[in-house]
Amino acid sequence: MTEKIRWGILSTANIGRKRVVPAMQASAHGIVTAVASRNIDAAREYTDELGIATAYGSYEELLADPNIDAIYNPLPNSLHAEWSIQCAEAGKPTLCEKPLASDAAEAQMMVDAFAERSVLFAEAFMYRFHPQTVQVKQMLDDGAIGDLLAVEASFSFRLTREDNIRLSAELAGGALMDVGCYCVNVTRLMTGAEPVTGHAVAHFGATSGVDEVLAGVLKFESGIVGHFDCSLRGQHNHRYHLRGTHGKITVEEAFVMSPDRATFIRWWQAGPDGDTYREITVPPANSYTLMADDFALALIDGRPPRYAPQDGVENMRVIDMLLQSARA
Ligand SMILES: NC(=O)c1ccc[n+]([C@@H]2O[C@H](COP(=O)([O-])OP(=O)(O)OC[C@H]3O[C@@H](n4cnc5c(N)ncnc54)[C@H](OP(=O)(O)O)[C@@H]3O)[C@@H](O)[C@H]2O)c1
Repeated sequence: MTEKIRWGILSTANIGRKRVVPAMQASAHGIVTAVASRNIDAAREYTDELGIATAYGSYEELLADPNIDAIYNPLPNSLHAEWSIQCAEAGKPTLCEKPLASDAAEAQMMVDAFAERSVLFAEAFMYRFHPQTVQVKQMLDDGAIGDLLAVEASFSFRLTREDNIRLSAELAGGALMDVGCYCVNVTRLMTGAEPVTGHAVAHFGATSGVDEVLAGVLKFESGIVGHFDCSLRGQHNHRYHLRGTHGKITVEEAFVMSPDRATFIRWWQAGPDGDTYREITVPPANSYTLMADDFALALIDGRPPRYAPQDGVENMRVIDMLLQSARA
């Protein structure tokens, strides 16, 4: 294999077109070689727009292409499992969008399908690769706020089209699946543990049938609590706040950081003479490129990805628990 892996893109999904493919094209370790769509004209329009060599009119053709080293799967959530498993069967390393599947059982089948064949697999939770997330986790581990007591998170935005995949129950949409999954993920990342209980309340759309606004609470064995809210109908907002025995940290631009702008970690620490406050500037970084690089280097060097795919299954278990609670 060359030092640059050759990516194939499964569908003309918006997130690929706008963010992930340009980030892969900016990566030192990958090139985007082909795109597949259910519609060959859509695939050709996409390859023309982004300067990609090959357009396919079916997903099967992409999986059969021997010149593709890895697949990026940004299909609707309900199709992540079916097509990722087909990638595994075709021996194609795969980076699959978040949330990993429709539920934890499906997610586990995906992880097993790749593990059985020793094929690389990872979930595309890009915010984890941003230096801001890495630094906050390091600060926590270094005791910057004492013992962690509570994680508060939120992620909302306002959908502009009613035919969006996020409003389809059949395609496994909903606020928790789409954006609440980040809140669950960051809570698990920062605590370094799995919650023992979780409860949620939600507003289910009368037409869509999916949770359009949801609030959840999580409790961990250690006594840490997590609480969050997410929405497909609210003002754009994505943040988390960590409270500890001796300080607190706030991150206002938490999940979708601009590659062109610095972000800030706000840190209060209790001291003998009162609280000290510092604002830490994190230089701009492209989370998607860092994620694509990690995957490519894992493939080139034959090492595991930075975040094990099993993490995606554990995230789905929490999502399942919360959705069950909200429906009850
Ligand atoms: N990590 C992130 O920052 C991020 C951000 C946004 C979304 N996402 C994730 O990325 C995935 C895609 O989201 P998106 O907003 O980009 O989706 P989208 O624009 O609606 O694209 C989904 C694509 O899936 C294909 N598809 C196959 N069967 C379909 C069906 N029955 N209905 C609709 N589309 C179908 C279509 O491509 P063809 O017509 O070309 O076959 C379509 O373009 C989701 O899992 C989402 O959670 C991640």
